Amino acid sequence: MHDDPLLTDAARRAARYLDGLARRGVAPTDAALAGLSAFDTALPQAPQDPRETLALLDAAGSPATAASAGGRYFGFVTGGTLPASLAAHWLATAWDQNAAFHAASTAVATLEQVALRWLLDLLRLPADAAGAFVTGATMANFTALAAARHAVLARAGWNVEADGLFGAPPVTVVVGAEAHPTLFKALGLLGFGRSRVQRVPVDGQGRLRADALPAWHGPAIVCAQAGNVNTGAFDPVVEIADAARARGAWLHVDGAFGLWAAASPSLAPLAHGLDRADSWATDAHKWLNVPYDCGLAFVRDREALRAAMAVSADYLPGEAAGRNPSDFTPELSRRARGVDVWAALRTLGRSGLADLVDRCCAQARRFADELEAGGATVLNEVVLNQVLVAFGDAATTRRVVEAVQRDGTCWCGPTVWQGRGAMRISVSGWATTEDDVTRSVAAILRCAAAARG
Ligand SMILES: Cc1ncc(COP(=O)(O)O)c(C=O)c1O
Repeated sequence: MHDDPLLTDAARRAARYLDGLARRGVAPTDAALAGLSAFDTALPQAPQDPRETLALLDAAGSPATAASAGGRYFGFVTGGTLPASLAAHWLATAWDQNAAFHAASTAVATLEQVALRWLLDLLRLPADAAGAFVTGATMANFTALAAARHAVLARAGWNVEADGLFGAPPVTVVVGAEAHPTLFKALGLLGFGRSRVQRVPVDGQGRLRADALPAWHGPAIVCAQAGNVNTGAFDPVVEIADAARARGAWLHVDGAFGLWAAASPSLAPLAHGLDRADSWATDAHKWLNVPYDCGLAFVRDREALRAAMAVSADYLPGEAAGRNPSDFTPELSRRARGVDVWAALRTLGRSGLADLVDRCCAQARRFADELEAGGATVLNEVVLNQVLVAFGDAATTRRVVEAVQRDGTCWCGPTVWQGRGAMRISVSGWATTEDDVTRSVAAILRCAAAARG
């Protein structure tokens, strides 16, 4: 028998938690963090009451969370969760389907396939590209670059899945110096070496300088970035694509959040040329506002992705019934994260997604304008949803960031931009209102005035 009151209680507690976010500080209080000690008990020797377990989780866990699902969390690049996507996630968790095989989990395989088709359309990528639901952009980069590794070495007569990298023809890997640190991790996992890759100098916004691309011969992969985590800037992908094509390289784009610009007609110039790449990585848990963990890899050459990811023909059921998601992902068994994406897209529609992206960018612009008017220095061209702010020297800026976090009206993180200490504001959440921006700007300027003394 299933415990209906338990599930109803969980839903009620979750709704109450989300409702309360508007009224609480964004960072957890010291008292709430101290309350986490309630979890640190000996392992129960006997079964415990599930309802009391849930009550403890809520009582000690909920207040100790950062209110990142609310409207005033601007740290890292953090989306909230759209209500429809959260609800779908709950239902799909109750289904508990293994999204590995079409035949075994036809419902979720179907939903994921539809979601991938919609995404290729919305993100203006080739309609016949292959797609994979993974845990986040780190793994999306890994997955897409595994396909790249397969393809460039296959062209050189080498089967990397069968024979590994020992003795393989060397692969030149080119990245911008301001690529996200997790891209280097993904390249390291693939055996390319975090330090061995060639880093191309960037401009003042962190854009790879196409005129500084190195010469290369033989197998090569070039990684461009759509959306620098600090500035939001896009690499000049048209020039990079021209160079990659002329010299036979695979072009990959890390668009963890920037790729969503393609879903907004008003941001089309920024996204121009992204469709010329061979593979793309993005996150749904950032700007699409679905629950963690949800990233997406897309690869133009479907067979290259399948060659890199499929387990083995004799283990897997065939595709007679339909596409097996696990032919395209690093995992075999996994949760049906595509259901959350399907629900987000089904409820937003094309115009709702464009509005979400545009609204965040307009709010980022408001932050920049109003903080600058209040005496702060905005360090980046605000082309997307990221804003870098300095309040004088690095020490003062650091003090302002700490004061903002303590104040609790909003939450912003510190960063270092090309040697200069800064505060980073990322507007990525569906829940952020104009009033949230007004209150947050006022709090930041209040903290800045206090920090300057
Ligand atoms: C450009 C870029 N790439 C990759 C990542 C890593 O994403 P994830 O944390 O989802 O693995 C991020 C995270 O902010 C990012 O901004």
